[in-house]
Amino acid sequence: MTQRTFVDSPMERALVLEIVRVTEQAALRASHFVGKGDKIAVDDAGTQAMRQILSETHIRGTVVIGEGEMDKAPMLYIGEQVGLQTSDSFEVDIAVDPVEGTTVAARGLPNSVAVIALSEKNGLLGAPDMYMEKLVVGPPAAGRVNLAWHLEANLNAIAVSLERHISDLTIVVLDRPRHENLIARIRAAGARVKLIGDGDVIAALAVAMRGTGVHALMGSGGAPEGVLTAAAMKCLGGEIQGQFLPSSPEELERCQRMGVNPDKIYNTHELAPGQEMVFAATGITDGELLQGVRRFAGGARTHTIAMGYATRVVRFMDTVHLEGAGARVNIRV
Ligand code: FBP
Repeated sequence: MTQRTFVDSPMERALVLEIVRVTEQAALRASHFVGKGDKIAVDDAGTQAMRQILSETHIRGTVVIGEGEMDKAPMLYIGEQVGLQTSDSFEVDIAVDPVEGTTVAARGLPNSVAVIALSEKNGLLGAPDMYMEKLVVGPPAAGRVNLAWHLEANLNAIAVSLERHISDLTIVVLDRPRHENLIARIRAAGARVKLIGDGDVIAALAVAMRGTGVHALMGSGGAPEGVLTAAAMKCLGGEIQGQFLPSSPEELERCQRMGVNPDKIYNTHELAPGQEMVFAATGITDGELLQGVRRFAGGARTHTIAMGYATRVVRFMDTVHLEGAGARVNIRV
């Protein structure tokens, strides 16, 4: 693989920290509804917070991946213009998922995050909301796998890239009946399966980092989440390959309308073609990569990953948010 060099990007430098506020506030507000059993409430809280903070951000933004089509979602719908809209603000396309893992958040289970990606105009593919077959690998296996190959060939390529045996690989798969056959085949090939209840974006990030104990993500999940994953993979040097899976004539028509080809396997750079890209995710509930929102008397603490593609930064941010002027708070290190 060719080595990319540092490229200065005023957009990334300006926005990588601003968007942290967006995901932090979405996570903080959504966290009030964690474990309360109401996934609509948790999603509404995250969406409203994200929309509000985006409206205060120095961007002229267009939502390309959002909460749904204009007639289905009141806020952060596809095509919505967000941001301060001043002439000196950055023109960007935006992919959001204010609560990625609404069901797990409502049930108080792990791996729910607030997530966003921004690129220059046309830097993120406008993916229709349907399933996508995905293969995600970390930097060592990037460029060495192919979604069109047999499972065993991909497992072998991943194992070789990591200098280990297939029996030492752990593959993340969403725990769904539709994955029964995939799970059986991964196990038959000798690898382990880590089943997750929800949240394939944050699971993909873990795959792209060493020391997390997971080596690939396979199976079908949301296509919009696939684009968010692609933005993160660009920043981390990992890879996603994805194929849209329209399951009805309506979904096929939506593919045509949005200009995506269901017969094609999209790679990271086709899903997120931008040359400038920022990505941030804040934990709502605990996960392996990010802690969830922790509340205490007088405030709360959040844990965020924020990255820039051109500027080559990956920041982990542990932030204490104090409530009320002059509140006396003992911060635990
Ligand atoms: P939501 O936040 O919309 O609930 O999505 C969570 C999620 O687990 C995604 O991470 C994943 O891509 C998708 O749902 C899988 O869809 P399904 O639950 O229908 O299998």
